[in-house]
Amino acid sequence: MFFGRCLNSGYFKVNNSLQRVERQVMVREEIRLKEYFRFVDVVLEVLDARLPLKSRNYRLHKMLGEKNRLVILNKADLADKETTGRWLKVLAGKGWPVLAFDAKRAFTLKKLEKMLLASRPQKLRYRRSLRLMAVGIPNVGKSTLINRLARRFAVKTGERAGITRGPQWIKMRGGWEMLDTPGLLAPRWRDNAGAFALAAIGSLDSKVVEAVSTAKWLLAQFLLREKSARTLKRYYLQGETEKEQDAAAILLAIGLSRGCIKQGGQIDEEKAAQMVLRDFRRGVLGPLSLEKPEDYADF
Ligand code: G4P
Repeated sequence: MFFGRCLNSGYFKVNNSLQRVERQVMVREEIRLKEYFRFVDVVLEVLDARLPLKSRNYRLHKMLGEKNRLVILNKADLADKETTGRWLKVLAGKGWPVLAFDAKRAFTLKKLEKMLLASRPQKLRYRRSLRLMAVGIPNVGKSTLINRLARRFAVKTGERAGITRGPQWIKMRGGWEMLDTPGLLAPRWRDNAGAFALAAIGSLDSKVVEAVSTAKWLLAQFLLREKSARTLKRYYLQGETEKEQDAAAILLAIGLSRGCIKQGGQIDEEKAAQMVLRDFRRGVLGPLSLEKPEDYADF
C-alpha cells in the first residue's frame, strides 16, 4: 500500500498491486482495440464533461494515427454549463470536432448526427457502410451512448447468421454501422488530484483509491466554489453547520445527519463517503466541473 499526500485532504492510499493488475488488463484491452481500429472509420472518443482532460487517455492519439475522431463531452448535464462552453472552444481550437452530450436524454442527438455526416471520410463515401466505435475510460457513458444511438438510429441489429459470439455491428441509418461493444481505455493520472478526480467520477475503483479520501477531496472541491458549497450544505445539512468549512468535518457532519452510525455509536465515514460519491455521480448535488481550461497554462 502506498500512501500519497494531497493538498486538501491529508493522506490517501493507492493500492499498488491492484493498480498493476488493472493496468495489465488494460494493456491487453488496448492491444485488442488496435485490432478493431483497422475496421473502423470514425472513433467516438467519449470523455466526461466534468473532467475533459483527465478523463482522456493520451495513448489513444498515437493508437488512432490519421483516423477520424469525434470528441464527445458526455454527462454535460452534470457539468457546469459555462465551464463546458469554455472547454468546447478550447478543444475545437485544437482542431478536434467536439460536442457536449447528454447520453441519458435525446436532445443532443441531432447535433451528433450532423457531426457524423460531416466526419464521413471522403474516399469511402459510396463504397461501403462506414464504421464507428465508441472508446473511453470506465464509466464515462460509452454503453449508454451506444444504446442511445442504437435506439434512435438503428434499423436492425447487426447479428448475422452463424455469428453467435464476439462483437456485433449495429446497422444504423445513413450508411453507418456501430460496434456494439465499446473500447475500454485505461484511466491515467499524473498526481494525487488526478487520481481523486478519476475516482470521484467513478472511473477508478475504490479498491484503488479509497472512498473516504476521494469523498473528502470531492467535498473540498465543492467548498472551493461558493454556490456549490451552499447547495451541498443545504442538501445534506439544512444549514445546520453553515460555518463548517473543512472537508473532513463536513463528511462527519453528513454521516451524522444521514444516520451513518456504526455499532458503538461512531460515525461510519465509509458509508457517508459512499453516499456522497453516489449522490455526486447521480447529479443530485448540482452540476460541478472538476477542471477548467485555465488550470492548464500549456494547453
Ligand atoms: P461506460 O460504458 O463508459 O462504463 O459507462 P455507462 O454507459 O455504463 O454509464 C455509466 C453511468 O453513467 C450509468 O449510471 C449511466 O446511466 C450514467 N450516464 C451515462 N451517460 C450519462 C449522461 O450523459 N448523463 C448522466 N447524468 N448520466 C450518464 P449508473 O448509475 O451506473 O447506471 P443506471 O442506474 O443509470 O443504469
